[in-house]
Amino acid sequence: MADNENTSEPLIRIENLYKVFGSNPANAMKLVRAGKSKSEVLAECGHTVGLKDINLSINRGEIFVIMGLSGSGKSTMIRHFNRLIEPTEGRIFVEDVDVMQLDKAALQDFRRHKMSMVFQHFGLMPHRTVVDNVAYGLQIQGVDKSERQKKALEWLNTVGLEGYENQYPNQLSGGQQQRVGLARALCTDAEILLMDEAFSALDPLIRSGMQDQLIDLQQKLHKTIIFITHDLDEALRIGDRIAILRDGLLVQQGTPDEILLNPADDYVEDFVKDVNRARALTVETVMHPPACRITADTIEEALKQMRRSKEDYGYLIQDDQYQGVITQESLEEANRDDSVSELSEAVLDEADAPAIQTEALIEAVIPETLNSDIPLPVVDADGQLQGELSRENLAEVLAEHHAAGQKDDGEEPKPEPEEQPAKVS
Ligand SMILES: Nc1ncnc2c1ncn2[C@@H]1O[C@H](COP(=O)(O)OP(=O)(O)O)[C@@H](O)[C@H]1O
Ligand SMILES: [Mg+2]
Repeated sequence: MADNENTSEPLIRIENLYKVFGSNPANAMKLVRAGKSKSEVLAECGHTVGLKDINLSINRGEIFVIMGLSGSGKSTMIRHFNRLIEPTEGRIFVEDVDVMQLDKAALQDFRRHKMSMVFQHFGLMPHRTVVDNVAYGLQIQGVDKSERQKKALEWLNTVGLEGYENQYPNQLSGGQQQRVGLARALCTDAEILLMDEAFSALDPLIRSGMQDQLIDLQQKLHKTIIFITHDLDEALRIGDRIAILRDGLLVQQGTPDEILLNPADDYVEDFVKDVNRARALTVETVMHPPACRITADTIEEALKQMRRSKEDYGYLIQDDQYQGVITQESLEEANRDDSVSELSEAVLDEADAPAIQTEALIEAVIPETLNSDIPLPVVDADGQLQGELSRENLAEVLAEHHAAGQKDDGEEPKPEPEEQPAKVS
């Protein structure tokens, strides 16, 4: 997903964004700036802090996920991108356009051409056929009928709805209706796709099919997608980067791996603890640097290098290429055996010490890692040695998950409020 070359250039920037809901936001902002929490501001002046001092940038071509519990400010945030909501304070840039400076006509043009939205409850027009729903964005752009019908049909085919063009939305299943919603959003050719809990209303199986389809489409289209979800599994599956909101605050942003391995606080930890790390993390994120590289050409030289290392195994590198695993024992044996003269003969069988790939999921390499007394060599796509993965590494990352899971599973039921000791203030 993230590996097309234009992914690191910021397309959207949000600077010091605040949103306070209520009749006198200026007054409430004084409390917010004085450091009062969302609940304190609400108690003191009846205003709701939607977002507080949000700073982030979204790169061209990435899927940027905004995640958080219900009420944390996700929809408030996404509606700022096309100014469906006016911020109380702060700046929003798309490319170098200051969205806050757009006049009415320019804003309308911006909404029609630059961004399109996919809604949780599809937002289809019930009295229009499927194809007319998909073509609607082009219709308001003023594209003529035959042209927009043609494009709409193409997008319907792309999302797998060939033959449904003359049906009405209520004749379609939920998953099919959301495919119409997706086709409609794609039909305008807008560069930015805003998806607010777009898959949350779908059954798990349909939902996972839609996730696959979105990932597939993105590989061809390279849109910039802002995707809101309250579901971490979904976020991890499709996000290049994830931002986590809590009570209007941005508590963490990072790649899926960064968030899984270093949750910023208990709130994020709560999301993360039920994730199957083995299925979400790659070897690269948990491997260690190789402890001992042997760069010798002869058995004797290799033995010398090995003795200088505190390990009794090493990874043989010749001409910059990874050759295999050797051990102190295999070297000494080769040294004793008069019929053996080549260093290559001291290299262990690939079956006994297989190289694993940086990109592999932990889940896929558990058996060979557990079976091997020696940490396994980790190589990249070019066959270069990048690290080693030991049983102990593996146990560490999996045990962390297990401990967190147990904390939850084995927890005593909480006493009813009246049984709790009175708080001392
Ligand atoms: N129009 C509004 N008026 C008053 N409060 C609002 C309005 N829209 C959202 N809020 C409040 O702002 C907070 C964030 O809401 P929202 O962005 O809808 O959360 P999410 O999408 O994460 O569930 C909530 O406390 C919500 O009650
Ligand atoms: Mg919402």
